[in-house]
Amino acid sequence: MLIKITTLPGDGIGPEVTEQAVYVLRAVAEGFGHEIKVTEKNVGGAALVASNDPLPADTIESCLASGAVLLGAVGGPAFDRYPANLRPEAGLLKLRKTLGVFANLRPAVCIPGLESLSPLRAEIVRGTDMMIVRELLGGVYFGERSTTGDASDRSRRAVDSMAYSEPEIERIARIAFELAGKRRKKIVSVDKANVLDSSRLWRDVVTRVAKDFPEIQLSHMYVDSAAMALVSRPADFDVILTENMFGDILSDQAGAVVGSLGLLPSASVGGKVGLYEPIHGSAPDIAGKGIANPLGAILSAAMLLRHSFLLEAEAAAIESAVKEVLAAGHRTKDLAAKGQGAVATKEMGELVASRIRSAKPALQQK
Ligand code: IPM
Ligand code: MN
Repeated sequence: MLIKITTLPGDGIGPEVTEQAVYVLRAVAEGFGHEIKVTEKNVGGAALVASNDPLPADTIESCLASGAVLLGAVGGPAFDRYPANLRPEAGLLKLRKTLGVFANLRPAVCIPGLESLSPLRAEIVRGTDMMIVRELLGGVYFGERSTTGDASDRSRRAVDSMAYSEPEIERIARIAFELAGKRRKKIVSVDKANVLDSSRLWRDVVTRVAKDFPEIQLSHMYVDSAAMALVSRPADFDVILTENMFGDILSDQAGAVVGSLGLLPSASVGGKVGLYEPIHGSAPDIAGKGIANPLGAILSAAMLLRHSFLLEAEAAAIESAVKEVLAAGHRTKDLAAKGQGAVATKEMGELVASRIRSAKPALQQK
């Protein structure tokens, strides 16, 4: 098969981790006899610097002509004072919209044996394996907004509105129910229906969609209590279904719960072309030092193979290789305990790729 992708390394540690993800993808492609074609383009701050546009036309064109997009990270302190439409984040939001990827899948797994990475006690975090299904193209991120008044007389007023329509809720709910069917068949839908109209509609529509999936157990939680349950009993969650901003917040929290944001991938799907990115962001403080954890990006590449190319065995090969490398005790700096040695970004990529190469014959016999 031809695996044709566009990479958007972006800002901060984005380029270093994307490079390793591509390296691993090439190892998988070779091992399984696929051809891979990678086109690299600019996004975010890197694109602002190069062409004063956080999402240039040639980037959009290349993404739309690919089978999937692998993104590193966008943003950084250098761009904090840029106007809203010329911020790196604006490029990412426009990219999501342009690709039509309304479903953001963010797994948070505590890998057996790695309980000590979590700031929580091992007995609490053990067995945590959840999938956050975050609505990605609606809500307050894309609602009407305005700032009126004037700073000089302190009369400014700013509004961001959170809007959802029935079809927007229904399509993301269906994705969550279908995913839950392949997992432990439990969904917690998170909202703030005790206060917000958009949440009351959310709850209503999700409850209606649930009737088409009688084998799935649905419950509802308010976002505040979900935040609490996420740290007190994380292993109870299977699929969490929620709107855009709640999902943004809870997915970072879930990352902290399982120990390292650096390990977590994400997939944004449901549109023309899937978009895959680690959830850790640009981490400007460690950018360029060669110490960033590439595993979030590498696991995003696994999701890319699974969701956009339906290459399940290839995706699983990456995931097993990552687990083995971690089980063998290799750690990047963010994962290493005090006094424990750490491997560099490149070494970690090499370790994963070489596991894939040596596992290849066994995998191909299956
Ligand atoms: C994320 C990020 C983005 C978001 C930012 C960079 C716009 O925090 O992917 O979670 O809020 O969606
Ligand atoms: Mn976020």
